[in-house]
Amino acid sequence: MAKTSRSGVSQLTQWFTTRNILSVGDFKARDLETIFEVADSLEPINLGRTSSDLMKGLVLGTLFFEPSTRTRLSFETAMLRLGGNVINVIGNSSSLEKGESLRDMGRVVSCFADVIAMRHPTAFTVHELSEGSTVPVINAGDGANEHPTQAMLDLYTIRKNQRRLKGLKVGLLGDLKYGRAAHSLIRVLALYGTEFVLISHPSLKLPEELLRELKTLGCNAVETSDLRSAIQDLDVLYVTRVQKERFPNLVDYEQVKNEYRVDLKTLRGARRSLSILHPLPRLDEIASEVDADPRFGCFDQVANGVTIRMALLALVAGRIPKAPKGKKKK
Ligand code: NCD
Repeated sequence: MAKTSRSGVSQLTQWFTTRNILSVGDFKARDLETIFEVADSLEPINLGRTSSDLMKGLVLGTLFFEPSTRTRLSFETAMLRLGGNVINVIGNSSSLEKGESLRDMGRVVSCFADVIAMRHPTAFTVHELSEGSTVPVINAGDGANEHPTQAMLDLYTIRKNQRRLKGLKVGLLGDLKYGRAAHSLIRVLALYGTEFVLISHPSLKLPEELLRELKTLGCNAVETSDLRSAIQDLDVLYVTRVQKERFPNLVDYEQVKNEYRVDLKTLRGARRSLSILHPLPRLDEIASEVDADPRFGCFDQVANGVTIRMALLALVAGRIPKAPKGKKKK
């Protein structure tokens, strides 16, 4: 746990100022704990209990070259709730279409914005943009590679629901090959000695290098295609959509798209304390009858996403919130 200062938030916040958030690989457990502490302190603002002008005078630039509902709106809401402003580029309306390099675009947008959040269909392009940028760049999803802020909000949700992060047994279900949310989440969970059950069609298994990384970190990871027996003793079931847009051949997608569906029958025998999570959007992977089950936490993830992104924006901008009045020092 991070050392806590008199103001109630971690002394480790300094490390974040002007930092890019490109990969979860750059964060240790203590850095994640700092993000969670700041998120806890900002949560009342997201819940509408109080208002804030923590980011007053600052501008967030959101550059989204791939479809998004939650992530973009969540970043923009986070900035607006903290009293900041937002400018954006969506889809093919930018000078990238004219052939401008991502590096140049990073430099240009830095003249307008104090923080940039970017999503792009190609892996590592956000790194390219960050090379030109003079302001912090946050990866909002780069191809099948990573989705670091989604992993942070997923971990924050698990921490709230399970009241611990160490030693959990986590099942990841669905598209483990192309799912960037799963890739980033697996890497952060590995910092807490998680036991992994990787449930997928054989053609959608976790990339070999990621599996090797888990084993090097000493994590136990079992691969299976049998959801029914895997679900029995899980603490968390993280369901993902089969990523149609990443398949080179749609015939292959058609063959695996309906492989798994979690419904109330599937959940028979699962723990009462199970957390059922999904980064959304969902197609048919989780039946709507599951929504009323107290174990279903997908919409909590969405709300927590705003809180986590508030914390990240404040941290990279060096605008550290004061502890709320009356909050006890830990
Ligand atoms: C995810 C993404 O874009 O990677 N969605 C999200 O950001 N919440 C998952 C997905 O699209 O399946």
